[in-house]
Amino acid sequence: MSWLVTGGAGYIGSHVVRALSESGLTPVVLDDLSSGVASFVPEGVAFVQGSILDRDLVERTLREHAVAGVIHVAGFKYAGVSVQRPLHTYAQNVEGTRVILEAMAAAGVANIVFSSSAAVFGTPDVPLVVEDTEKRPASPYGESKLIGEWLLRDQAVATAGSDTPLVHTSLRYFNVVGSADPTVYDVSPHNLFPIVFEKLLAGETPRINGDDYATPDGTNVRDYVHVGDIALAHVAAAQRMIAGEPIEPAYNLGSGDGLSVRQIMDAMARVTGIDFTPEVGPRRPGDPDRIVATGELAARDLDWKMRHTVDEMVRSGWEARRNAG
Ligand SMILES: NC(=O)c1ccc[n+]([C@@H]2O[C@H](COP(=O)([O-])OP(=O)(O)OC[C@H]3O[C@@H](n4cnc5c(N)ncnc54)[C@H](O)[C@@H]3O)[C@@H](O)[C@H]2O)c1
Repeated sequence: MSWLVTGGAGYIGSHVVRALSESGLTPVVLDDLSSGVASFVPEGVAFVQGSILDRDLVERTLREHAVAGVIHVAGFKYAGVSVQRPLHTYAQNVEGTRVILEAMAAAGVANIVFSSSAAVFGTPDVPLVVEDTEKRPASPYGESKLIGEWLLRDQAVATAGSDTPLVHTSLRYFNVVGSADPTVYDVSPHNLFPIVFEKLLAGETPRINGDDYATPDGTNVRDYVHVGDIALAHVAAAQRMIAGEPIEPAYNLGSGDGLSVRQIMDAMARVTGIDFTPEVGPRRPGDPDRIVATGELAARDLDWKMRHTVDEMVRSGWEARRNAG
């Protein structure tokens, strides 16, 4: 059974592709390589190079591969940049999702798993975020992901009672790190792990942006999860849909336990064997003290659990990045 993975040449999407294959499903990748890497798509997997904004291409791909469901990972993920490029962000994340849903309706494809984000919550003022925590996105990126969730919800209402009522879920990722394949790594220039890796490879000292936050060691606390665990949750969601089991409109893929930037830096030094003391710079505007979510709902329905320690997250990410040269 074929499942389309949009953005399947990206960091998370290519992990989802591998997890689908291992589960016995057949992934098909649609990716325009705007931030993806062609070599991240495993050999033997059907790869269509093109944009999710190309409605005819999406519909043709769904039909030609007899796709049973879509894992819609493609998107523009740079929250900070989205403030300067709102129109681009909305085109990719909102119009892109609308086009996918339109092509699915035309081709009679009823299942979709959507890559959403912790950014839909903005700066939550609760110690542990749950699915119903108030949504107050603080960037065009967060807004675009929340609108994506609404598009799925509204299309499900509109197609209820039709031959192909939309079955959907949105998986909200927090800080996705590590690697489950030594050839795939996060190429983002804006995320903590790749930034630290690049600094260490260049022989430079990584920096902490502010150590006067209201957290135990003064540095930001975030919810770090391993990309391999994230990928498995998508397979579980797809299998739930195939089995016709009920599925929630959204799941927070959180660990229930945060790690501070300083704790991550300590793990980086421990795992890489590079002895460094991070520099401390000023705060970045808009960085909340702490964002941590429970993953209880996902644990109940999607076999979600943390299968990796922080050192494993660092080690796997570091090795994959070093393999890239
Ligand atoms: N990395 C994280 O920590 C994180 C956290 C929350 C949410 N997300 C979301 O998860 C998804 C994947 O993130 P990632 O870290 O793998 O990023 P990524 O940039 O590595 O992957 C995105 C992929 O989508 C492709 N793409 C972008 N626009 C496209 C288009 N118009 N048509 C076809 N393909 C297109 C890119 O080429 C790339 O391969 C994104 O939607 C992102 O917003 C990521």
